[in-house]
Amino acid sequence: MLRGKRVLLIISGGIAAYKSLDLIRRLRERGADVRAVLTRAGEQFVTPLSVSALTEDKVYTDLFSLTDEAEMGHIQLSRNADVLVVAPASADILARMAAGMANDLATTVLLATDKPVLAAPAMNVRMWQHPATQSNLEVLRDRGVMIVGPNEGDMACGEYGPGRMAEPLEIVAEVSNFFQTASGPLAGRRALVTSGPTHEPIDPVRYIANRSSGRQGHAIAMALAEAGAEVTLVTGPVDLPEPPGLTTVGVETAREMLAACQSALPADIAVCAAAVADWHVADAADQKLKKADGQATPTLALSENPDILATLSKSGPERPAVVIGFAAETEDVVAHAQAKLARKGCDWILANDVSPAVGTFGGDRNTIHLVSPDGVEDWPTLTKRDVGRRLVQTIIERGPFAE
Ligand code: CTP
Repeated sequence: MLRGKRVLLIISGGIAAYKSLDLIRRLRERGADVRAVLTRAGEQFVTPLSVSALTEDKVYTDLFSLTDEAEMGHIQLSRNADVLVVAPASADILARMAAGMANDLATTVLLATDKPVLAAPAMNVRMWQHPATQSNLEVLRDRGVMIVGPNEGDMACGEYGPGRMAEPLEIVAEVSNFFQTASGPLAGRRALVTSGPTHEPIDPVRYIANRSSGRQGHAIAMALAEAGAEVTLVTGPVDLPEPPGLTTVGVETAREMLAACQSALPADIAVCAAAVADWHVADAADQKLKKADGQATPTLALSENPDILATLSKSGPERPAVVIGFAAETEDVVAHAQAKLARKGCDWILANDVSPAVGTFGGDRNTIHLVSPDGVEDWPTLTKRDVGRRLVQTIIERGPFAE
C-alpha cells in the first residue's frame, strides 16, 4: 500500500519523538520513502544521526542552510512528498501551523506545501485540553489537516489523560488509509464544484453580494477529493483557506464563474453550491460614482446573469454525468426545490432552509432535503462537513457510477 509513496516526516519537540524513530522503520518496512525534517526542539529528544541512520538520507534541520537550500530548497522538500506527517506534533508547532507562521524549516515547509498533512499531536494533557490548542486544532481541521490521536494514558510528565502520541502503527494505518482514499471510490472521476457568493460590481469600489460563506461548497469539494475525485473548486470571494489536494479557481462575478466552470469541463460530477447573484449591474461604472449636490439619486439597471447550473445541466457531450444544485429557500422549501429541479434540468437538488432564524448562511450546520425525480429524502441536521460526506456517499451509492 505504501510502496513508492514519499513521506516527509516532521519531528517536532516532545518526548514522543523517540516513537518517530520507530515510525520511520514501520513506514519504510511498508515500502515508503521517508525524508525527515527535525525541528530545533526535536533535536533535544532525538539526534539527527539516529534519524538519518533510519531514513538512510540526510536530515533537514535548518531553514538557512546554504547547502540544504542548494541541494533541495524548502519548497522542493514539500513538492517532492506525497504526504507530510508531523509526528510528534507539539502544542507549539500546531499553534504555529494554525497561525501560518514560517519561522523555521518545518513550519516553512508546512506553509509552502499544497500536499496533504497528517498531524499526530503529543503533549501534556492540560496543554492538549487548553482552549488555545483546541481552537488551533479546529482551524487546522477546517483547513483539511488530518489528525491522528492523541491517545489517553499515563504520560511522561506523571499525569494521566489524552495527550500521548498515537502509536507508530496507528499513524502508519492513517497514512495507508489516506493513500487508499487516493485510490478511493471516485478515483479517476473529475468533479466541478461552485462555492461562495458572487460579487457584481456597481463601480470599482462597490458591489452587490450576498451572505454565502462558501463553507458548504468547500466542504463538498473536500469530501469529493477525499473520495479520490480530481476536483476543481470555482469559488467566489470567501474568507476560507484554499482546501488542500484540489484545484481552486477564484472568481468574482457570475459571468466569470460560468467561464471558469466551462474551462474546467469535461467533468463527471458537477455540484453548484454557489449563491450566484441572479443579476449584474447592466452598465457598471468605470469610475467611482460620486454624490453631488442637486443630482438625482442613481438607479441601477440590472441584467440577468447566466444560470450556471442550468447551463451545466443542458444535455450535450459535455454534460457531467451527474449535476447537482442547491435550492436556498425561505418558505415551501421542498415544493420550490421540486420546481427548480425541473426548471434547471439537473439531476438532484439539495434543498435547504436559509431563513435567518435557521442560521444556515455562515453557520456550521445544514438541514438538507435531497430532492430527486425519485422523491424527497430528509437528512438530519448535519455539520456542513458531514453534508459533504453524505452527498459524496450518495453519489457513490446511487449516482451514475454505482455498479
Ligand atoms: N445557480 C447558478 N447560477 C445562477 C443562479 C443559481 O448556478 N445564476 C445555482 C445555484 O448554485 C444553486 C441553484 O442554482 O445550485 C439554485 O439557486 P437559487 O438562487 O436558489 O435559485 P434561483 O435560480 O435564483 O431561483 P429563485 O430565484 O426562484 O430562488
